[in-house]
Amino acid sequence: MRVRIDVNMKLYIVLFTFFILIQCSQSRYTDWLPQNLVTTFTNKTTQITDYVRSKGRSIKQFYVDNVKNPIVSYLTPNNQTEEDITERPERMKRKFNDYVEDAQAQDKKLFDVIAPESIQYDCNDNDPSIHMTTPQLIASHGYTSESHTIVTSDGYILTVHRIPHSKNSTTKTSPRKTVLLHHGLLGSSADWIIPGPQKGLAYILSEAGYDVWLANVRGNTYSRAHVSLNSDTFEFWNFTFHEVSQHDLPAVIDYIMEKKGWDSKINYIGHSMGTTILFAMLSTKTHYNKVLRAGFALAPVAYMTHIESPIRLLAKYSNNLEYLLKLLGANEFLPQNAVLRWLSKHACEINKFEEAICENSMFVLCGHDQRQFNKTLLPIMLSHVPAGASTKTLVHYAQEIKNAGRFQQFDYGPEGNFRQYGNISPPQYPIHKITLPIALLSSENDWLASDVDVTNLYVQLPNPIEHYIVPLKEFNHIDFLWAIDAPTLVYAKLLELLEEGTSDSNLINDIDIGLPIVNDLI
Ligand SMILES: *[C@@H]1O[C@H](CO)[C@@H](O)[C@H](O)[C@H]1NC(C)=O
Ligand SMILES: *[C@@H]1O[C@H](CO)[C@@H](O)[C@H](O)[C@H]1NC(C)=O
Ligand SMILES: *[C@@H]1O[C@H](CO)[C@@H](O)[C@H](O)[C@H]1NC(C)=O
Ligand SMILES: *[C@@H]1O[C@H](CO)[C@@H](O)[C@H](O)[C@H]1NC(C)=O
Ligand SMILES: *[C@@H]1O[C@H](CO)[C@@H](O)[C@H](O)[C@H]1NC(C)=O
Repeated sequence: MRVRIDVNMKLYIVLFTFFILIQCSQSRYTDWLPQNLVTTFTNKTTQITDYVRSKGRSIKQFYVDNVKNPIVSYLTPNNQTEEDITERPERMKRKFNDYVEDAQAQDKKLFDVIAPESIQYDCNDNDPSIHMTTPQLIASHGYTSESHTIVTSDGYILTVHRIPHSKNSTTKTSPRKTVLLHHGLLGSSADWIIPGPQKGLAYILSEAGYDVWLANVRGNTYSRAHVSLNSDTFEFWNFTFHEVSQHDLPAVIDYIMEKKGWDSKINYIGHSMGTTILFAMLSTKTHYNKVLRAGFALAPVAYMTHIESPIRLLAKYSNNLEYLLKLLGANEFLPQNAVLRWLSKHACEINKFEEAICENSMFVLCGHDQRQFNKTLLPIMLSHVPAGASTKTLVHYAQEIKNAGRFQQFDYGPEGNFRQYGNISPPQYPIHKITLPIALLSSENDWLASDVDVTNLYVQLPNPIEHYIVPLKEFNHIDFLWAIDAPTLVYAKLLELLEEGTSDSNLINDIDIGLPIVNDLI
């Protein structure tokens, strides 16, 4: 008798939870549902999984029906005809507007409408590397790693990872040649090691004799702490790439210099937002032009006029800051949430890998290129990206698109700007002050860094090294990190550029700015 009641109770709980989860997934009726009830029932997920499996309906299908399809229909159909391609931008715009209106009508965050978060799944999986952090991955690849904690001038606590020497180094001392790798929007230090020892840029550089440092931006998986602010407050997330360029990057560079000696010269390699912050820093804190040796910008983002990424859909709302923050969530933009983690664990079960990709904000925003995509890496990619970014950063990029042709600080609107900057429009970053030798490496199929914008940037750089365009038409934004042929298409060239002028003879800055070492922008 007792057993029967237990079973009935269990079934009842399971059914009820399942029902609630479906409601949550549809994000339509959650208004009337007390939040604590949802949280309580999310603890029952193992039972749900069992129930769903026992009913012969795979959990994957459940997820696909309730979460994936809304996103996929908003994105490109994976089976596109000529008409679809020409129709795509219109279609995406229409769909997106629907979502915005929906979210507005329900007074919800946009991404809660597209994909619900905070459903805790607790499933088993077999590949341990999915759970590994950057240092654990590095160790599993047979390399030595170090973690360094750096506090920025405004109190953010950053973790920087380091591969101090090559795998078989006998001396165990770090080489003089130093390189700092900075990931892009939604990324982390893991970006550079995910493809493994043969293809990961961090390892290739290590084997080429560099001391490799891997930065982590404030707010991402490894840098989510502050000396006084709690990471769930608006104050913590009140930053864009500007603050990163003014505080994080200088703190990391100063730290490395302190460790290695002030005469050492750091090569900087950035990807995506990792390039934006370099340009922003060099144009405002100009003495770093002399501190670094050279900059190498993969998929460089400064001007944004011709971009294809869905970020551009946000541009039209970028004037209404309050609304946009409300819509996207004022603090963090799409955290590495439970649903994405759960998905990554199950990606190995998903045959059509597009299905998984469509759920990830990184791929949603940056696109992907099937032929260069190593499907084996998908589970581990999905478990590391998105690693965290502030909504304000997204909005800042959306403003760049709206104000086509202006690479400038955050726009608070005329009044806010006056308070913030003493001027009704935000200050532009003075590109002409970037005297560091810089090479740009870009590609034609980049959703975020179009030819036009990259060329426009290149011609304005006072001390350009080279503008290299990847000789493969399909190569896109993320391919710079993970493409099957990235080593031959990009890294070989990058190493060549890095090695050039190792004597520094052709890289010495000959323009003396002579400004005091302060932030000239306030
Ligand atoms: C869910 O389970 C965890 C661990 O068993 C527990 O710490 C937590 O309080 C539970 N949450 C709720 C809302 O019951
Ligand atoms: C591609 O489209 C055709 C018809 O347009 C359809 O029959 C087919 O199932 C689609 N294939 C996939 C993989 O969606
Ligand atoms: C390191 O040493 C091992 C064993 O001697 C060798 O198999 C491997 O190829 C070496 N790796 C590199 C990158 O030189
Ligand atoms: C957010 O940051 C801006 C710019 O630094 C500052 O003016 C504003 O007071 C901050 N707002 C909050 C609530 O911290
Ligand atoms: C894909 O990634 C796996 C795991 O790192 C690797 O073993 C494999 O060689 C890669 N495939 C290609 C085509 O690069």
